[in-house]
Amino acid sequence: MSNNILVTGGAGYIGSHIVRRLGEAGYNVTVYDNCSTGFAHSVLYGELIIGDLADIHHLYQVFAKHQFSAVIHLAARLVVPDSVMYPLDYYTNNTYNTINLLRCCSVMGVNQLIFSSTAAVYGNPQENPVTENTPTLPINPYGRSKLMSEAIIQDYAYASRLRYVILRYFNVGGADPAGRIGQNSHYASHLIASACNAVLKRQPELKIFGTDFPTPDGTGVRDYIHVEDLASAHIDSLCYLEQDGESQIFNCGYGEGYSVRQVVERIKAISGVDFPVINEARRLGDPACVTACAQKIKQVLNWQPKYNNLDDIISSSLAWEMSKLNRDNGVN
Ligand code: UFG
Repeated sequence: MSNNILVTGGAGYIGSHIVRRLGEAGYNVTVYDNCSTGFAHSVLYGELIIGDLADIHHLYQVFAKHQFSAVIHLAARLVVPDSVMYPLDYYTNNTYNTINLLRCCSVMGVNQLIFSSTAAVYGNPQENPVTENTPTLPINPYGRSKLMSEAIIQDYAYASRLRYVILRYFNVGGADPAGRIGQNSHYASHLIASACNAVLKRQPELKIFGTDFPTPDGTGVRDYIHVEDLASAHIDSLCYLEQDGESQIFNCGYGEGYSVRQVVERIKAISGVDFPVINEARRLGDPACVTACAQKIKQVLNWQPKYNNLDDIISSSLAWEMSKLNRDNGVN
């Protein structure tokens, strides 16, 4: 079997870290990305093909040329409030386009798939941490678009030889420890990226969206995972599928919840910058609290996170944002 791997969305924040790890491990990587939120310069290994999953004819050509042994599928839209405003874009990009990808896998006989899913499939869970068996009741179109994709993958796998690993990402932060790649999006909607922008005065303040959640300090609680550990989860999943592992769903988080206020306090302490914070109303589609039970991925894949510390995630994000600022200002 070839060691050619297709990574959809491989020019994006998480995808580029996975591509780097695949390249370092000796895989031949092909990235398929429309570069709507990804960047060619983030792809450190392999070949970047600019294309959209909606263009199934182009996708077939790419499959026919490369004979992939496995597909890692990340390409998607992923901003929760955005999904509430533009649901059809989310169902088209995230759900319909996953069917296009599976059609290509079917025709070309590619039988190993790693799918980027999300904690948003759990919605506002009654109890935390959530296990993979916690009921999936998404409360926004983003979560529903991913849950539908999970169901489609499972149904297709039942009817074919496909084996899959579905990884449900919790809140991803941090950057490449060697500082080569990190989050690049022009518009930072995620908490850590947005707070880094406040530190660096790219934005005047940080807004806290919701201070009346049923959580200890009233702000949203999330489980933050370092992008490097999430990339490791993909490499471990690939090895598992290569060794004939059966289909699985895994949570990818650390099992620690931090509130928005706690994250903001740590970012202020680590950066030494006391940026202004403004309390705002809740955002559309935001749950109160979601944290992961990650026992299953540790047991089945022997996944061993190395950066499970909020301060490490924040420091690494800050270092990346500082280096971007220096590059923008022409400082080496
Ligand atoms: N938040 C703020 N101010 C900001 C940005 C965020 O208060 O400027 C709050 C949010 O309201 C929420 C928390 O910080 O309570 C985290 O918000 P993010 O936007 O960083 O992340 P989300 O939890 O909305 O979503 C992210 C990913 C999803 C993934 C989810 C899993 O975008 O893909 O984590 O929990 F599904």
